[in-house]
Amino acid sequence: MKPSHGKVPISIVAIVVCVFAFVGLLYTKDIGYISSATVLSISSCKPELIIDHPNKSPSVEKKVNSAPEEVLGSDEEEDKDEFYPHCRVDRGKWVFNSSFKPLYSDRTCGYLERQVACVKNGRPDSDYRHWEWKPDECILPRFDPKLALEKLRGKRLMFVGDSLQRGQWESFVCMVEFMIPTEEKSMKRGHVHSVFKAKGYNATIEFYWAPYLVESNSDFPIIDDIKKRILRVDRVAKHAKHWVDVDILVFNTYIWWLNGYKIKTLWGSFPNEEEGYEELDAPSAYRVALRTWANWVDTTIDPNKTRVFFTTMSPTHMRSADWNNKKGKRCFNETRPYLKRGHWGTGSDKRIMEAVVSVTERMQVPITFINITQISEHRIDGHTSVYTETGGKLLTDEQKADPLHYADCIHWCLPGVPDTWNQLFLAYL
Ligand SMILES: *[C@@H]1O[C@H](CO)[C@@H](O)[C@H](O)[C@H]1NC(C)=O
Ligand SMILES: *[C@@H]1O[C@H](CO)[C@@H](O)[C@H](O)[C@H]1NC(C)=O
Ligand SMILES: *[C@@H]1O[C@H](CO)[C@@H](O)[C@H](O)[C@H]1NC(C)=O
Ligand SMILES: *[C@@H]1O[C@H](CO)[C@@H](O)[C@H](O)[C@H]1NC(C)=O
Ligand SMILES: *[C@@H]1O[C@H](CO)[C@@H](O)[C@H](O)[C@H]1NC(C)=O
Repeated sequence: MKPSHGKVPISIVAIVVCVFAFVGLLYTKDIGYISSATVLSISSCKPELIIDHPNKSPSVEKKVNSAPEEVLGSDEEEDKDEFYPHCRVDRGKWVFNSSFKPLYSDRTCGYLERQVACVKNGRPDSDYRHWEWKPDECILPRFDPKLALEKLRGKRLMFVGDSLQRGQWESFVCMVEFMIPTEEKSMKRGHVHSVFKAKGYNATIEFYWAPYLVESNSDFPIIDDIKKRILRVDRVAKHAKHWVDVDILVFNTYIWWLNGYKIKTLWGSFPNEEEGYEELDAPSAYRVALRTWANWVDTTIDPNKTRVFFTTMSPTHMRSADWNNKKGKRCFNETRPYLKRGHWGTGSDKRIMEAVVSVTERMQVPITFINITQISEHRIDGHTSVYTETGGKLLTDEQKADPLHYADCIHWCLPGVPDTWNQLFLAYL
């Protein structure tokens, strides 16, 4: 497999290494300390590694002030169809609407992790919370919490995957929980499995941590040293036994595969397991692992009882040259989306998307995609940036002053972009 775009592979590798080193750092919170190796690998992510993109087109927007000109005329909306399942939601645009308010805030929803609670962590600007995605072909209905809860009545909904998926789960919980009186709801958090219960609805909204979906030696606790992580690309049972009897499953897996190194993969069993691994490039390893997952779904899931969704890759915005901001520092200080139609940066690996498409095409159980990649590619303004924590602690002022090393341009502020992912998800549900 070759990258479908033939541009500056070295810089891309450098960036994914940095991205992944960063993911490693973010995860140390789960094990309570930062290894010096991680810190070192982050310090090595120097700006000079970032080579400018050769064929740039000028930015579509020049305005600096925050009141965007683009407000959709109501006529345009009236011409559109109601939402339908095959509407191409990835074609569309972000529209600013100052009267549009998120359904929750990090003060009203007690279930947000500090990592994504940007306002609480000091993010000063607020425009990023007032953009709505408008597909060209159809009207995407707003997220209706009452409808969401009705759809979940008597059901178990489970999000499975990595921290981006955990963000989507928290967003979903926060968008419905305020409808439920305190005594009617509960939250049980675990390192691997967390359950929000809506008692009156006999419904649960759960999260299960499985960053590669398949088994690895670094699921929990996470192994800091990327080179020591070994994946069992042909095994999923240890995790999958927790997925049976769930009515609605929503999977994802992406960022953990892009560590800039070959993926150490184990097949079958070996007397000395640590030695028996093979090294595969990320897209190949991903493909094998996803087949393992697909095979589990096809042999275990009764599509008459269970719906299966897959959230496509969540883009990272570590390289401001992608959106022609030469002086930018990752996504730091970006306060508006990059509105250029079809914008696709180096933080979304097309080879992984191709693997997802080709593996799922052959499945028997239908998979509904929550195709967030294109939509989220525009949202350079939506990440937690320096308004986050690392190793369980808020970034210090010194760290905040060094966004080239510390800005998190992988995770998203909540409320924020993942709310739109759930808006899409509910439309399909
Ligand atoms: C902006 O949001 C408000 C409040 O939700 C809504 O009434 C209005 O129709 C929205 N405007 C557009 C152009 O979508
Ligand atoms: C509650 O939901 C579970 C499935 O999640 C179901 O097995 C059970 O029968 C339901 N209970 C009631 C009282 O509806
Ligand atoms: C699902 O339902 C359809 C129609 O109701 C039926 O023909 C089919 O056999 C069912 N599939 C399974 C796996 O039970
Ligand atoms: C953020 O960007 C604005 C221009 O858009 C600039 O005036 C400001 O100095 C920048 N802030 C920082 C901390 O770099
Ligand atoms: C998601 O959308 C992109 C374009 O926005 C497309 O290239 C890709 O194939 C889609 N992925 C899936 C799994 O449908």
